[in-house]
Amino acid sequence: MPSAQKDSTMFRNLLKPDRAVTLSVDGKCIVACADDTVASALLTNGITSFRKTPVSGAARGPYCCMGVCFECLVTIDGETNRQACLVPVRPGMVIETHRDNSHSGKDLNHDR
Ligand code: FES
Repeated sequence: MPSAQKDSTMFRNLLKPDRAVTLSVDGKCIVACADDTVASALLTNGITSFRKTPVSGAARGPYCCMGVCFECLVTIDGETNRQACLVPVRPGMVIETHRDNSHSGKDLNHDR
């Protein structure tokens, strides 16, 4: 399976071949299920770090998966600071993680 980054992950893709969609994540192709959110698509493809905090540089990823914590911010089709856990995937979607801190929204980042 193509992947933008393979981290060890506890998430498992339950992809049904007839529901597959292809996305671009940080310039690489991943396959997700049409019913996934962006967060679940990234997690099941082994991408667990979505951004880094501006203060410590600690890696952050989805925590609540219901739109409360803002730990899942990514850029989707050029729109920055989107909550990946609330956005359903679409074929051809272009996603950029903020793992290099270049898109950090200081007002939305929290070090814990
Ligand atoms: S994971 Fe908490 S807002 Fe998305």
